[in-house]
Amino acid sequence: MSATMQSLDSHAARLKATDLRALFNTDPQRFRRFSMNLDDLHVDFSREKIDAAAFAALTGLARDRGVEAARDAMVSGAHWNLTEDRAVGHMALRGGAEAPDGSDVAGNLDRMLTFAEDVRSGRYAAEAGPFTDVVNIGIGGSDLGPAMVAWALEPDRDGPRLHFVSNVDGADLADTVRDLDPARTLVIVASKTFTTLETMMNARSARAWLQSAVGDDAGRHMAAVSSNLAGAAAFGIAGSRVFSFRDWVGGRYSVWSSIGLPVAIGIGAGDFRAFLAGGASMDQHFRAAPLEKNLPVVLAMIGVWRRNAMGWPTVALIPYDQRLERFPAHVQQLDMESNGKRTTRHGNPATAATGPVIWGEPGTNAQHSFFQLLHQGTDIIPVDFIAAAQSRDGNSAHHTALLANCLAQAQALAFGRTEAEVRARMTEQGAEAEEINRLAPHRAFPGDRPSTTIIHRALTPFALGRLIALFEHKVFVQGVIWDINSFDQWGVELGKELAAGLVPALEGETVPGLDSATAGLLAVLKELSE
Ligand code: F6P
Repeated sequence: MSATMQSLDSHAARLKATDLRALFNTDPQRFRRFSMNLDDLHVDFSREKIDAAAFAALTGLARDRGVEAARDAMVSGAHWNLTEDRAVGHMALRGGAEAPDGSDVAGNLDRMLTFAEDVRSGRYAAEAGPFTDVVNIGIGGSDLGPAMVAWALEPDRDGPRLHFVSNVDGADLADTVRDLDPARTLVIVASKTFTTLETMMNARSARAWLQSAVGDDAGRHMAAVSSNLAGAAAFGIAGSRVFSFRDWVGGRYSVWSSIGLPVAIGIGAGDFRAFLAGGASMDQHFRAAPLEKNLPVVLAMIGVWRRNAMGWPTVALIPYDQRLERFPAHVQQLDMESNGKRTTRHGNPATAATGPVIWGEPGTNAQHSFFQLLHQGTDIIPVDFIAAAQSRDGNSAHHTALLANCLAQAQALAFGRTEAEVRARMTEQGAEAEEINRLAPHRAFPGDRPSTTIIHRALTPFALGRLIALFEHKVFVQGVIWDINSFDQWGVELGKELAAGLVPALEGETVPGLDSATAGLLAVLKELSE
């Protein structure tokens, strides 16, 4: 590690010896000092365990590690993804940068949006009439991004209903199509590679479902999104309904590409373009703002602080926004598939802890499940809260309650309630001494638990695009700090290969050389399946 990374240790030692109450008590300007905004997007990190010197060390580390040069290299089309020898071009899809290979991004987008509008208007329709439902079949980035965005932008949907099937478990497809009319359903097969086992198996089953209702007309009910045009053609999808994207778009960064087709069918071209514009606005900020005022950089460095200086291995991502229900799952793939690496870009062992475990659920539900541990458990789990000032449902009483809870959780985590305070309150409320002694230790909250709160005006297409891009760039910056390639995913390969080898064993063939645990479980499965 460079000297700058090590210099975080002395700041961490100083800050571990104090707590958030003390930090707030000694600095009335703390909120102003440690919060930032880009237009209506506000990021408050005043409840992180940092001070001005630690913050300066963090931005110094970003500078020392060459974040600006790395960003500029990515923007200029350098093959930043070394192991796959590819550029990283997702910003180009939303107008935030030039396409790395000069390809016709605008033309490709127009073609996809024209088809989306044709489906919406019924210009492209089934024999039985306009499509009422769209089923997207994909997995990972070919599912999580569009599914999350579709769910988030449901108030903007004025096109067909959208459904998403990802799991190879046949229950996913079966439950999704159970109440759909195949004669009015469009199936989109979304796969960058067009080889992913789950997607291809679901696509074949979906085609059979369509064929059982519309026979030879099933082809009209299918479209594809892929970088593998030959694969889509071999599957039998007409070229006029195959929408491509380039290999410089990573799967988990692909929602901006033709992978966004189901979303575009749901919300229309105008709102889809607004979503892209939101992403581009964050790109412009990321490319231009000085490190100290650069939101993705600041969020990234807070993550580095949490992970490397404080040694906290997980992060809870809690949107106080039901429509962001799938946002933690999307960010989970974005972050953990990008930065869950133990080898540096040039093949050496990483010398510091890398990507944290990201997980979460929307508030307020989360409060009634795992927040107990966040408040009183023995581990410190930093939380990222997200909330919108305005609800898009116009129900102010619900929204007021939602926001009050969001603010209250951040407050309770940071400042807690000491045992002395608990005792005083219980005394005030007339409790007996014996009851106070019995319950006070249980009712005390240690506090000093960090969180960052992200607030924007409302969850519009533009705001959602901006929010996703914020997290994408955060992940990129952390990859630079940890010197890892955030754009490959070799860690998913071994399981895929082993699964392929185990199918024959599950079908009853003798497969030599199995470990005893796998052989034992295969025997149990065989016995239980008879
Ligand atoms: O197995 C991981 C992965 O390659 C992800 O990176 C990707 O988003 C997902 O599988 C789906 O891949 P594809 O779009 O090629 O079907």
